[in-house]
Amino acid sequence: MVGRVGLGVVGLGRWAMVVSALARQAATVDIVAAFDSNPGAARSAAQLFGLPPAPSLDALMDDPAVRGVLVITSNESHLPLARRAMEAGKDVFVEKPIAPTLTAAEQMVALAESTGRILMVGHNTRRTPAVREAKRIIESGLLGRVVSYDAAFSYFNLEEVSPDSWRADPARCPGGPLLQLGIHHADNLLYLGGPVSAVCGNLLYLPSPALQGGQAVGGRLQLAFTSGALGTISSDYCTSPETFTILIRGEEGEVTVLDHHRLLLRDRSRSRKELTPAGPDSVVAELEEFAACIVSRDRPETDGRVGLEALRVILAGLESAQGGRIVHTGPEVRGEPAAGGRPAGRDGSSRGGEAVPGRAG
Ligand SMILES: NC(=O)c1ccc[n+]([C@@H]2O[C@H](COP(=O)([O-])OP(=O)(O)OC[C@H]3O[C@@H](n4cnc5c(N)ncnc54)[C@H](O)[C@@H]3O)[C@@H](O)[C@H]2O)c1
Repeated sequence: MVGRVGLGVVGLGRWAMVVSALARQAATVDIVAAFDSNPGAARSAAQLFGLPPAPSLDALMDDPAVRGVLVITSNESHLPLARRAMEAGKDVFVEKPIAPTLTAAEQMVALAESTGRILMVGHNTRRTPAVREAKRIIESGLLGRVVSYDAAFSYFNLEEVSPDSWRADPARCPGGPLLQLGIHHADNLLYLGGPVSAVCGNLLYLPSPALQGGQAVGGRLQLAFTSGALGTISSDYCTSPETFTILIRGEEGEVTVLDHHRLLLRDRSRSRKELTPAGPDSVVAELEEFAACIVSRDRPETDGRVGLEALRVILAGLESAQGGRIVHTGPEVRGEPAAGGRPAGRDGSSRGGEAVPGRAG
């Protein structure tokens, strides 16, 4: 029995409002303190959700009722806040992306390991009922050998991103939508398809008053999995309606994650079956898992290393887009073709003869 675990929230912006609303459904979680460097945000959170405002960051970090800290701030502040929390003896849940740079992410993972604190990264979309069901279907063997994973997560966001927002700043949010949305699918595809050995990518630049100073409005990555399978991740802030999909194709059939709750399964006979698996809300599930890990000291499913690997895929794609080359992220592709073709080599030459893309727009 976990009982109710007291948590503090740092960062009370857009996403924290969603998390705070859903935290009410989490039976094992109590938000006992909340802080934002913008006092207006803290006032709104107190009014909307009754979150008890902490007088200062130090007061929240030193509050004995706070056993874990939810870091829901802009990406570049994740590391200093996680460090402050771990030094105060608190366990940490940090939103995705774990950090905007590999160095910061690696420091956070090392800190968790040296202090023995729990570090969990908010990769909630792998916990959606549809992605969990896709994983079950792949593991059941129903699709045969999986050959490709094609994932997209986009929505029109240009009206909500202001030019002075951290999302519009390539230094604080490298890759823009690929880092914010695409990273969900980097985690999902690593979860579904295993390690990724190489990435190439390109970025989409369109004129927009919101995204100045070289920020991308979208991007697409091509992945080579160690298994020999291939994949893509596409994300942008300039298309409608919102899409969150993963098409998984195997030798015996295919399954498409249509959104967080629905899938379409097709087999060789072309029969079509829509599936609507039941399951808890993904944010409620991750909050409850964080509380359980605080009590049990077990590693969370999406610990710091998992968050680091998802970040590695996205940043490799950005490096590729900027340098016009393939970036190797892990072990060589296994010597066995995924299907029909020969495995991709270090030069990426088996990837359909596709030119390594450069910057678009
Ligand atoms: N899991 C998801 O699906 C999901 C969805 C949206 C956002 N996010 C993540 O949540 C985080 C926040 O995103 P958002 O959309 O809420 O951003 P936001 O800009 O709306 O809110 C961020 C808040 O953090 C506060 N803040 C920044 N630095 C701080 C500091 N050092 N101390 C205290 N407060 C500080 C800001 O004042 C602001 O109120 C990001 O890392 C983002 O990637 C996750």
